[in-house]
Amino acid sequence: MAARKIVIDCDPGQDDAIAILMALASPDRLEVAAITTVAGNVPLALTEKNARALVELAGRDDVPVHIGCSRPMLRPLETAEYVHGETGLNGANLAEPRIAPAPGHAVDAILGILAREPEGSVTLVPTGPLTNVALAMVKAPEVMARAAQIVLMGGAVDLGNVTPAAEFNIYVDPHAAHVVFGFGLPITMFGLDVTHKVTVTDARLEAIRAIDTPAGRAAYGMLEFYNRYDRQRYDTEGGPLHDPCTIAWLLEPALFEGRDCFVEIDTTSPTCIGRTVVDWWRRSDHPPNATVMREADADGFFRLLNDCLKRL
Ligand code: BDR
Ligand code: CA
Repeated sequence: MAARKIVIDCDPGQDDAIAILMALASPDRLEVAAITTVAGNVPLALTEKNARALVELAGRDDVPVHIGCSRPMLRPLETAEYVHGETGLNGANLAEPRIAPAPGHAVDAILGILAREPEGSVTLVPTGPLTNVALAMVKAPEVMARAAQIVLMGGAVDLGNVTPAAEFNIYVDPHAAHVVFGFGLPITMFGLDVTHKVTVTDARLEAIRAIDTPAGRAAYGMLEFYNRYDRQRYDTEGGPLHDPCTIAWLLEPALFEGRDCFVEIDTTSPTCIGRTVVDWWRRSDHPPNATVMREADADGFFRLLNDCLKRL
């Protein structure tokens, strides 16, 4: 079977970084047509630089990295250095990237790929705020409708992680999320309910430490740093590997379970803005607009992750 074409739209971020490395380690299954970057975990100047450093780490500087939106559609940018460190990739110790950003704005790069590839052949994988994806939908809806699907990290059925109600990616740009969830493409949503089941425990971190490849060493450093915040905040055994769930599902869908639901984004409430209101029990008449994942085989996930890191 030919590799599935994907575009990763991201804001690296240690967990975005692990998602990128897993995808780049799997060229027989996933062809990364481009990485597009957005402001989120840290400002855009850092997310795009981090993405370039990551493709170099993976020895894949043939993958274009495009610079996208520097702020959400309506709201001021809120970042998450308190989780990821001031660089976004604290712990990775990556060299300054040598490759330049690819020419063209991320929104145009996404549209260009969808316009030139066969209809229904490109999967979009957003792992940051949805600003670029939403603006592409506003700019050229007929081109965006050519995408096969959207596989995203964002939202939650249950509690939020930035506010009691909202998860970071959706909270940062709820208006963009509103556009994306209302657009009509098939969506697979990895929210906090499922990503908090994929945690970097001590034993899993030690297994990664033993992977003596450049990517293995960087992954260990990043996750060792990344684990600190979540352990303290949530009193769990380790940090949740949010973003890589998207790539893991594309590689091994049997690792996850979910249900088709209607998901609505709160864009108005002072206390709940950015909440993904998930109709898990089908209480409304709205037809489902997303497959919402809630269960994960965490051991299976880490087996897959380790196999990927050993190949880089
Ligand atoms: C999401 O927010 C960011 O901190 C992570 O990279 C992930 O995409 C989790 O809420
Ligand atoms: Ca992210």
